[in-house]
Amino acid sequence: MKVVLISPDQSELGQIGSQLSAVGNFELTPVQGSNHEVASAVERHQPDVLVVDGVYQESSAFDQLEKTIVANPGMAVILLAKTLTPEFLLHMMRMGVTEVLPQPVNGPALKESIERARQRVVVKKTAHRQGRVVAMMGCKGGSGVTFLAANLGYAVASANPNQRIILIDLNLQGGDAELFVSDGRSVSNVASIAAEINRLDSTLLESSLVRVLPNYGVLAAAQDTHEAFSVKPEHVGQLIEVASKSYDLVILDVPRSVDPVTVKALDRASEIFVILQMTLPFIRDAKKLLGDFRALGYGPAKVRLIINRYEKEPEITIKDVQQTLGMPVYRTVPNSYRNVATSVNQGVPIAKLAPRDPVTKALMEMADALQQNKAVADSKGWLASLTGR
Ligand SMILES: Nc1ncnc2c1ncn2[C@@H]1O[C@H](COP(=O)(O)OP(=O)(O)OP(=O)(O)O)[C@@H](O)[C@H]1O
Ligand SMILES: [Mg+2]
Repeated sequence: MKVVLISPDQSELGQIGSQLSAVGNFELTPVQGSNHEVASAVERHQPDVLVVDGVYQESSAFDQLEKTIVANPGMAVILLAKTLTPEFLLHMMRMGVTEVLPQPVNGPALKESIERARQRVVVKKTAHRQGRVVAMMGCKGGSGVTFLAANLGYAVASANPNQRIILIDLNLQGGDAELFVSDGRSVSNVASIAAEINRLDSTLLESSLVRVLPNYGVLAAAQDTHEAFSVKPEHVGQLIEVASKSYDLVILDVPRSVDPVTVKALDRASEIFVILQMTLPFIRDAKKLLGDFRALGYGPAKVRLIINRYEKEPEITIKDVQQTLGMPVYRTVPNSYRNVATSVNQGVPIAKLAPRDPVTKALMEMADALQQNKAVADSKGWLASLTGR
């Protein structure tokens, strides 16, 4: 097992190094350097386990370490730290650090930690990640798809720091999902990924995202119409395939048009959330859309109706909607004009801006329900592997 130990302090490096050599037969490479050298040391030595000794106070140091962790999902990271506040530990957990050990550390404790960390990474690597793919589509423009998709991603990611979430904006002409939850500096997008689809892997995908949380990022749509035309259904298929192998939850913001690109995305989704509002034009369009879905073979097992901007005592009742559309309403999201408008205008997720808003509550409940369904699906898979069914 290859272990790289990095520390700015030569004497500390020697001390920890000799303690480790005394207790285990690791292939140990000591590197003297500060947090700036972490990325290059990892690139050079490709360790199974990285042990970082040093004071991590500045957020720029955190950022660099996090990038290295994200780019090397098969590597375990152990951090040696002098002060362990709960905030620090939570931050490290969010960043994906495998273990944090208090200093001064002794040889046997570090050896145990290295072996444990390695074990965890091996288990994580071999576990077949098959992330869930959820598509969200509106019955009409302005249903609230992008707002709900971007904020549902945030709700799931903030409640589950050990899960990785991606939102892919498939509104190839003029999508702006990243702006709903960030200040939106995107280096890359769906079209630029399509242009180098043969190079696409989890590292390229992760580095193409606009980051919202350490475990949540948005892949922006194409920047101009010309670029959008170059995105073909097979690109979208491959993109979703790679995403579902690297993320626990893939949310697709799908435009309201039934064309080869959107059908490819809908085919790949295990659920389609159809967003509508409680007025006749939405309900009429929902009926048409559900008709198209039936023709494509997407039935009630796959399609879920979400009513957005729901007002108490509506003119049209949920019962009316269910009768007209021949399908149960899965969830409602209340109308909350002021907080939603501020969230959208500032690009700040509503859960962060207004944690007590009823819309935040509805999103958190949806996030929770998604997790519970996931647990049922996972346990079914586990049971099936035992019973062979
Ligand atoms: N629950 C809500 N309460 C109040 N306002 C909302 C709610 N959901 C969405 N909105 C408002 O509706 C507007 C349109 O939402 P959004 O852009 O998400 O719709 P969309 O379906 O993605 O539209 P498009 O078809 O243009 O992609 C948002 O700017 C937001 O202000
Ligand atoms: Mg939209």
